[in-house]
Amino acid sequence: MKTRLKTALLTGLAFTLASCTTASSENAALTAAASNQDQLASPAAGEWTSDGRDYTAQRYSPLTQINAGNVDQLGLAWYADLDTYRGVEATPLYADGVIYNTLSWNITTAYDARTGEVLWTYDPKTMREFGRYACCEPVSRGLAMHGNKIIIATLDGRLIALDKDTGTELWSTRTFELDSGYAYSITGAPRVFGDKVVVGQSGGDLGVRGFASAYDVETGEQVWKFFLTPNPDDMPDGEASDSALDMMRATWSDEGMWRELGGGANPWDAIAYDPDLNLVYVGTGNSVPHARFYRSNDEGDNLFVCSIVALDADSGEYRWHYQMNPGEEWDWTCTASMISADLKIDGEMRQVLMQAPKNGFFYVLDRATGEFISAEAHVYQNWNEGFDANGRPITSEAVRYDETPKLVAPGPGGAHNWFPMAFSPRTGLAYFPAYQSAFVYARQPGWEPQPYRSNSGWGGYTGEAGRIRGELMAQANEMEATWLAAWDPVRQEMAWKVELPRHGNGGVMVTASDLVFEGTTKQTFTAFDARNGNVLWEYPTQSAPVAGAITYELDGEQYIAVNAGWGGGAAQIERGAGIEMPRAPARLLVFKLGGTLELPPLAEDASAPPEPPRLTATEEVVAQGRELYHQICSVCHGQNAMGGVADLRHLDRETHEKFNQIVLEGLYLEKGMASFSDLLTPEEAEAIHHYLIARANEDWGR
Ligand code: HEC
Repeated sequence: MKTRLKTALLTGLAFTLASCTTASSENAALTAAASNQDQLASPAAGEWTSDGRDYTAQRYSPLTQINAGNVDQLGLAWYADLDTYRGVEATPLYADGVIYNTLSWNITTAYDARTGEVLWTYDPKTMREFGRYACCEPVSRGLAMHGNKIIIATLDGRLIALDKDTGTELWSTRTFELDSGYAYSITGAPRVFGDKVVVGQSGGDLGVRGFASAYDVETGEQVWKFFLTPNPDDMPDGEASDSALDMMRATWSDEGMWRELGGGANPWDAIAYDPDLNLVYVGTGNSVPHARFYRSNDEGDNLFVCSIVALDADSGEYRWHYQMNPGEEWDWTCTASMISADLKIDGEMRQVLMQAPKNGFFYVLDRATGEFISAEAHVYQNWNEGFDANGRPITSEAVRYDETPKLVAPGPGGAHNWFPMAFSPRTGLAYFPAYQSAFVYARQPGWEPQPYRSNSGWGGYTGEAGRIRGELMAQANEMEATWLAAWDPVRQEMAWKVELPRHGNGGVMVTASDLVFEGTTKQTFTAFDARNGNVLWEYPTQSAPVAGAITYELDGEQYIAVNAGWGGGAAQIERGAGIEMPRAPARLLVFKLGGTLELPPLAEDASAPPEPPRLTATEEVVAQGRELYHQICSVCHGQNAMGGVADLRHLDRETHEKFNQIVLEGLYLEKGMASFSDLLTPEEAEAIHHYLIARANEDWGR
């Protein structure tokens, strides 16, 4: 069944309840807490209740109905048009016959998992101004579930709990103040750990002081907060991070722009949990400004940039950390998936935490103590000359750049970015999309930071530096390669890999029938044999799925669901290189054995809509235009300017130029579009035009 987002119709349902907890007897609350805990710690085999499926975040499903013998019979059971050309990065959730999904601007929808019928849609009315702060599109990587609640984290910094059955708001909490002075936003999924929701934030390229914070899942009240860089005024914060403030501060220079730009280290993607050890693991982002020279006078490790930091789940206090890149200055983040497993290493069972961050290595740490167990590069790299006895990396001086350009591998896109990794306890392998790349870094002489802009401190490639850069970039381009990696974390070596055409291959899911599912840049959703990488099934998705897939069981049938919506940071890199594939708008695709539904054929000349003009009007003008549009135009052109007789988000340049003639002079009368000059002044028509440009910019995959 084909479904459409009925955003405007359904948002009426989403009235606000004040921050509240339903009164219930203490015993009932305790029982509910215990069963919620179970649902998240060990969900039923057919469910997918958190983005990593359970607290190990292995993205491993015990379901086996779909297997190597029948996977070629997988077909489409239903799909939902998501009505956007924006990237869709969210891993959906599934419980009790319902799929929960979230899109750009945090528009969240519940679907009947059998048919795709929309049960409710909630639009948090995310402030569109925050689109400017999202380096890599206003995406959301997922949502969380707890008992009767669905929890989302909005781009503009709110954590919102919704009633799972109705989409009604139960509570809403701000995780950062709008006047914080930092360019915070949220693109990562919130996670429920026990009775708390934990979330981080984005903005490390522009300027933020990263932190992780935890909230009571029943009320939304903050329980603890941990800043991941020191206080710029050299004061305690009165927060849980004070437990590590002196340790952090000793690793930063007294001088440097970290004080005004916050230093970074913001956890913008994975945060993990071990309920038995009662530890929350925070993967932290890159530093800001990126060039350590400007940030911290070229001194210090700059804790906790590019690290995993373990915190006490109850108090948020510091327990241990491991820093992957001391003195990080290459835009490397350590925010990628963190997976827990128990592995036999050198004859001993170890409780490990695994991560393959941007810097090209695969790390295995002891998750109780943070002890470094092992790490090995899975792509070409030139920054690491080994590890000392404590597991601290020996960073090559050759990658510490000054005003002379240096070739460094991997590049800032990262050897493995946020695309979810999976681990199978059956094969003992970790599966993730790998990207071999390099980049030329140089410090820009006399650089000054700009508020709310990308603040790297890189540049100045003129004269001799420009010539060197050109030569080195040619070398860097030669190195580019990408594949699905199956990595053996015990031996620290590649078990197998499958080459793929280009950067931006999707997140990975693995099942107990040894199937690995991944969206690829061939614009396919593909099943690989988890043991050897053989391609067992491939489905043309018309848009490369970047998100991680899920699988669930309903009425004895196993389904597989994935968002297919190309976009985000990888798409930006590819587009920058002039690569843009014809594609359909984003869709949620749901497969089952014997599914027979077909996608409508991709039009011969299908391409993303034309790039909209920049929005120049004020918020007031856009608001006036929105009002007038809905009074006069939406009956034919759709609510929120989506769909309708002609989708007005997709106007080409000529149509933009002729806009007033069409609307006020009857230019397209013969097509059925009469003049509205009796209802609108030229200024009012102009306001509608600005509203449409604003809508185009919101939904266009820039
Ligand atoms: C009664 C239905 C109706 C209403 C109301 C209406 N339109 Fe249209 N509009 C049409 C039709 C039909 C077309 C032609 C579609 C086609 O190309 O076949 C059209 C085309 C257009 C186009 C050209 C689109 C393109 O890509 O070529 C613009 C611009 C437009 N309308 C703007 C507006 C605006 C602004 C309003 C409100 C002030 C409005 N329309 C109200 C029916 C309507």
